[in-house]
Amino acid sequence: YQNADGDIELTEGVRSLVSEADRIYIVACGTSYNAGLVGKDILERIAGIPTEVHISSEFGYNMPLLSERPLFVFLSQSGETADSRAVLVEVKKRGHKALTMTNVPGSTLSREANETMLLHAGPEIAVASTKAYTAQIAVLAILAYDIVRANGKELPFELMPELARVATIMDSVMSQKELFEDLAERYLKTTPNTFFIGRGLDASVCLEGALKVKEISYIQAEGYPGGELKHGSIALIEDGTPVIALISQPKTNLNIRSNVKEVVARGANACIISMQGVEHEDDEFILPHVEPLLAPLVTVLPVQLMAYYAALARGCDVDKPRNLAKSVTVE
Ligand code: AGP
Repeated sequence: YQNADGDIELTEGVRSLVSEADRIYIVACGTSYNAGLVGKDILERIAGIPTEVHISSEFGYNMPLLSERPLFVFLSQSGETADSRAVLVEVKKRGHKALTMTNVPGSTLSREANETMLLHAGPEIAVASTKAYTAQIAVLAILAYDIVRANGKELPFELMPELARVATIMDSVMSQKELFEDLAERYLKTTPNTFFIGRGLDASVCLEGALKVKEISYIQAEGYPGGELKHGSIALIEDGTPVIALISQPKTNLNIRSNVKEVVARGANACIISMQGVEHEDDEFILPHVEPLLAPLVTVLPVQLMAYYAALARGCDVDKPRNLAKSVTVE
């Protein structure tokens, strides 16, 4: 979907699916679901199209009331996930349209949907999904942008230059990866549990951080919206509990910082990863500034790297974690 000027333009097929829709239903599992949560914010805030995100294995059996002209977007790295395919089969039976975003051309979810947008992330071999997550968010942003452009509306910022900048920043974070080895050593090496907290888009990335830590380092991990902790889960905080806070969103900077104070007052060992523009000098790592809506592309790297180094430090197999398969082909 690149035009002759090197700009991104969607195919007519994808455009017409989107232009007919009054609501988007993103259906996915695991990391793809977590990317969908970020995509919902991007689609609603950039393109103004109401978007819901659903876990495939729930949606298939408890379908909510649908809008009049729903468009189903199946997010799946492998394109082979049985829970998502079950939903695709059902929505097609009901005569609805489907767009698959996948990393694998010719995969089942791609073949059976009306249209496909490929992630172009390159083969992802390790069981834990990482680059597919960021590629899914980027492709969802591209979709949102094309909707705005097709409607002749004004773009809030130029997407392609910002994505190019994000890519450079991702490279620079990766080149400092040893810093996250140190953070993993200090916060995660021996702990039985941990929390990732954030607000808004940061909370969605926290879900992904917690999933990565659970999958590959077997630490009991919770991703939580910071403001919700005091409604129950803060009871789990005790002396030394590692709490990793992601702070990239100006709108909620002060609120999440007061949530960090709440957990520190109860003994938590807090590690703040923030972004220029909302940083404090004693934050553990300050990421370069990017557009807040695209911040998850960058904030996820520190948590992925911390999960990776925690797994290594605990002697776990980072590529093939126990009990998991790369594609989950059973319901
Ligand atoms: C991610 O690290 C997991 N391995 C898992 O949650 C995965 O994202 C999920 O099974 C969905 O897979 P898919 O994207 O291939 O559909």
